[in-house]
Amino acid sequence: MAKDIFPLTIAEGYAFCNRTTQQKELYEHMDKSRAVVLLAPRRYGKSSLIHKVCNNWENDTNKLVTSTTLFHACDLQSTIDIIITAAHALLDKIIPTISTANMGRIFSQLKKLNITAKMDGASGWSYGLQLSESQQTPESLTALLKQLNDAAKKFNVQCCFVMDEFQQIATLKDHFPIEAAIREAVQNASNISYVFSGSNRNMLRLMFEDSARPFYHQCQKMMLDRISEKHYINHLQEIAKSKWGKESDLSLIKRIFELTERHPFYINYLCSKVWEGTSTPSLSDINNAWASICEAEKNDVLLSMNKISTGQRTILIALARKPESELFSQRFSTSVNMPQSSIQRASKQLEQDDLIYQDDMGQWRPLDPCLKTMVGNNAYLHL
Ligand SMILES: Nc1ncnc2c1ncn2[C@@H]1O[C@H](COP(=O)(O)OP(=O)(O)O)[C@@H](O)[C@H]1O
Ligand SMILES: [Mg+2]
Repeated sequence: MAKDIFPLTIAEGYAFCNRTTQQKELYEHMDKSRAVVLLAPRRYGKSSLIHKVCNNWENDTNKLVTSTTLFHACDLQSTIDIIITAAHALLDKIIPTISTANMGRIFSQLKKLNITAKMDGASGWSYGLQLSESQQTPESLTALLKQLNDAAKKFNVQCCFVMDEFQQIATLKDHFPIEAAIREAVQNASNISYVFSGSNRNMLRLMFEDSARPFYHQCQKMMLDRISEKHYINHLQEIAKSKWGKESDLSLIKRIFELTERHPFYINYLCSKVWEGTSTPSLSDINNAWASICEAEKNDVLLSMNKISTGQRTILIALARKPESELFSQRFSTSVNMPQSSIQRASKQLEQDDLIYQDDMGQWRPLDPCLKTMVGNNAYLHL
């Protein structure tokens, strides 16, 4: 069994629960060299899903992956630098091993592709993409990605280029031409599938759903929800069996669901505290561990509460006390003492900022499960 069964970062191996349909969907998009944007609130499992599918993809012949994050992109030049580093990593995989027997043929192919090759001592051959004269234009970004696609085509491989934290591009001063330049390359890529993701769902949505932006209608959109109760029960019981030789009492698992509301990060956070001992935890072990998690997360929750308007806060607290399916009903309006128009405005903003979500039963709830516990304990009201 994998070392960390309940990681707080990427879930892999035995730690990875289900997502079978989404794995298949993403794989198929990649296979057809389609561009994809994966949208979900942070800590829902976007990176884990991409990682899992890319690993499977690379196990097949002639399928290669490069992956980067644009987290530190702060202008055009740094964006090009980040992309070129990932492109070079991919080139190293695309270009066949150069031996004395095939040296002449490979060199002439590289020459036609305008790719430079040099011997790097111990690390072997390294390859370079030639940028246009000035390396600081959006056009050079398009040219660089086009050159990469030409190489993939020439050497008959299919590639996947993963760009995480892609919304950072939208924060750059002159972001429009950069978005347009990447769009241009994505649109014309025959052998590269681009997978975009990021932790700010609202900014990503604006990039991909606004008809005035270059990426509008350019990508397959995939949404990730929380993992179903059924799949989590199977997952946790498998781990229980291998750990303790028997299944866990279902009521304990249900308690974990009740507290974490099946938020993937919090399930792992809680289970890493109570599921890894030598015997099954008791109900009070679970309750105590959850209380300590909420205590540790309190500052983060309060920080996000302090950034929002009083109207938004009123709704968030009301939903933490009691989830609601009819946000715009007279009943809810009376209960929070706010006019329906204000509720509409405030709840839209809360949803965009990933502070509330609608569960699979249609109930609106705070996205962060700690909030319910904190409001229940009046912890928020004391600060
Ligand atoms: N399929 C999965 N099965 C089990 N745990 C998962 C799964 N996907 C994600 N997680 C867990 O959820 C948390 C967030 O995962 P991550 O992939 O980093 O999310 P994101 O990229 O959306 O922020 C981590 O603790 C991770 O281990
Ligand atoms: Mg991630």
